[in-house]
Amino acid sequence: MPSTQGNHGGDDPPREPGGEPVSRRIAIRGDLLDLLDDPGFDVVDSPEVRFDADHWLLVEDGRIAGRQSHAPDPSWTRLDHSGRLVMPGFIDTHVHSPQLDVIASYGTELLDWLNTYTFPAESRYAIAAAARYGAQLFVECLLEHGTTSAVVFPTVHKASVDALFEVALDRNMRLITGKVLMDRHAPPELRDDVEGAERECVELIERWHGRGRLAYAVTPRFAPTSSDAQLAMAGGLLSVAPDLYMQTHVAENRDEVRWVAELFPDALSYLDVYRRFGLLGPRAVLAHGVWLDGDDRALLAECGAQIAHSPTSNLFLGSGLLDWRRLEAAGARVSIATDVGGGTSLSMLRTLAEAYKVQALQGSRLTAWKALYTATRGAARALGLEHEIGSLDIGSTADIAVWNYAASPLARHRDALARSLHERLFAFMTLGDERNLESVLVAGTPHVRAASG
Ligand code: GUN
Ligand code: ZN
Repeated sequence: MPSTQGNHGGDDPPREPGGEPVSRRIAIRGDLLDLLDDPGFDVVDSPEVRFDADHWLLVEDGRIAGRQSHAPDPSWTRLDHSGRLVMPGFIDTHVHSPQLDVIASYGTELLDWLNTYTFPAESRYAIAAAARYGAQLFVECLLEHGTTSAVVFPTVHKASVDALFEVALDRNMRLITGKVLMDRHAPPELRDDVEGAERECVELIERWHGRGRLAYAVTPRFAPTSSDAQLAMAGGLLSVAPDLYMQTHVAENRDEVRWVAELFPDALSYLDVYRRFGLLGPRAVLAHGVWLDGDDRALLAECGAQIAHSPTSNLFLGSGLLDWRRLEAAGARVSIATDVGGGTSLSMLRTLAEAYKVQALQGSRLTAWKALYTATRGAARALGLEHEIGSLDIGSTADIAVWNYAASPLARHRDALARSLHERLFAFMTLGDERNLESVLVAGTPHVRAASG
């Protein structure tokens, strides 16, 4: 099985979606911003901020090749975004592609929400054409929100995984996904079985893992919807191919946590269920983690798994407030995710703004630097992909988003009054969304935006 290590993608020249090569050498002018390391909570004047106002970012053969204050020679195609913010594309570490259909659904907490809205919507992906349409729409939407990489839940249907990988491969995107595993406590049309699921996983891994910029994630939905035998099968897949990812949900909602305790009476905790089946490691991405205890935090730190903090979802479904600081103090990694459709926006800016409020409610302050770090280099680092995504480092793949600092009269008014760079970026993060996005490049290829309307 090919390894994802060292696979930067972008070995081919940048392509327009239609296949036509674009210039091998692109120079993007703007205010270049990325984070060199975790700036920590509360530090407003951080040395980890790399900000070069009005510079040119050089992109050659899909990778970042340099930066300079003067205009490059005419061999470079110039994209002049002066006065705009040039950042690494965002990385959404937990999002459900079929749930664009149920975003903003009224009136339920997690377990009712799954049964009332989510499972019926996911059932529609049994039709391969629906899965293909959904995958295309989903990837377009990600890019239109400035998100260039994602860790994605499709559905239990193999065709939904093929569709997502195909669309991402066509765009040369860094995407991590895998077939959802569910053999119990789900409607019959969404249930698989251990042997069939294992066969499909192996086929999908062989077809997609390590191809282009794609990687496979073994994807048990959450402990309640997989039997012991299925969780053991998932652990078995990971044990023979440690460069696979694992994604699931953990300790999101109090009723869910109680249910898991009933279903797995021998486990020490919800998280411990996953440990027992060999599912935890540095490539494990666990969404939510709101209701973890000290032992769980220590276990996360020990195994290197990350919590994909999903603030808009945790607020919308009334799940709870993540104690991010406490997790990190224990040595656990935290990335940030939209979790659409429990989450209410694909915009990582809106998600960061809600993350700030969730921490504020607990007496903690999330700086713009910490927030932007977490959505870029921090996520890349947690996924073992820092060499490829999440920064404007030379040699990184040129996944880049260009943002307008302010996209409304009120935001422009506020922006003009900002007295420091942090104040400006904090207002951008708090007031901004996809309407601020001016341009996005994937592996150096400008994304041609779909006609609006
Ligand atoms: N837990 C199990 N499945 C899901 C899902 O689709 N969304 C959320 N938010 N939590 C889950
Ligand atoms: Zn989720």
